Amino acid sequence: MKKIILSVLLTLGLSTTVSAAEGNAEVGKDKSAMCAACHGVDGNSLVPMYPKLAGLSANYIVKQLTQFKDGTRQDPVMAGMAAALSAQDMADLAAYYSSQKRTESAGTETALGKDLYLGGNSENAVTACVACHGLKGKGMAAAGFPAIASQNAEYIKIQLEKFRSGARANDNNAMMRNVALGLSDDEIKALSQYIASLK
Ligand code: HEC
Ligand code: HEC
Repeated sequence: MKKIILSVLLTLGLSTTVSAAEGNAEVGKDKSAMCAACHGVDGNSLVPMYPKLAGLSANYIVKQLTQFKDGTRQDPVMAGMAAALSAQDMADLAAYYSSQKRTESAGTETALGKDLYLGGNSENAVTACVACHGLKGKGMAAAGFPAIASQNAEYIKIQLEKFRSGARANDNNAMMRNVALGLSDDEIKALSQYIASLK
């Protein structure tokens, strides 16, 4: 008897020391029905101003949902969606979307976009995007750098504008705000097209 209680306590203890909830992709798929109208059934949003969630890392998705809920990342639509989600819901949804394959997007590979992406602009203190998001825009999941390749161009443009104005301020150490501060409107357009064109 004592042994059983001990093992139950140990199991409970272990599961509470795991900081993030374990996500289940199958359960997440069921819970994603209310997200599909905007983000697509498989996380490939067909509406250009809404982000594709397919191919984002689970860590990144959980971070965003947590921050929409607590207001660190402000968006009236997503605040409403995230309000009802528990940590377990977020983990399950993240497991589902991160397991989905991102479809290709239409984008123009402009010279301006490519130069900025690969080389930055030292005059305006724009760090090259490649340093954190990688040559092909796949990001670095462990470091919290999201995959941006084949994201919807319109969504990318909106986010760069939000980082530049400070309307989006949930990036650790203002990493993205510092980068976006030196970008002109034309540069943001060119970068959005270039990134969407990355496969
Ligand atoms: C009515 C449309 C709508 C619905 C429904 C919706 N979303 Fe969103 N979602 C958005 C918009 C718009 C944004 C971008 C917000 C911004 O500009 O910051 C977004 C952003 C996100 C992001 C951040 C993506 C990124 O690349 O940073 C995640 C994660 C997300 N939504 C998950 C969900 C989940 C999970 C659900 C269902 C529980 C859901 N959304 C339902 C419109 C919607
Ligand atoms: C020092 C590292 C770093 C550099 C350099 C950097 N980024 Fe980012 N970027 C990040 C991080 C971290 C995030 C996610 C912030 C968060 O946690 O919400 C991000 C997010 C983004 C997003 C939003 C993705 C989404 O799904 O919402 C876009 C778009 C983006 N970066 C584009 C760029 C572009 C374009 C450049 C170059 C001009 C660039 N980044 C340079 C670290 C970086």
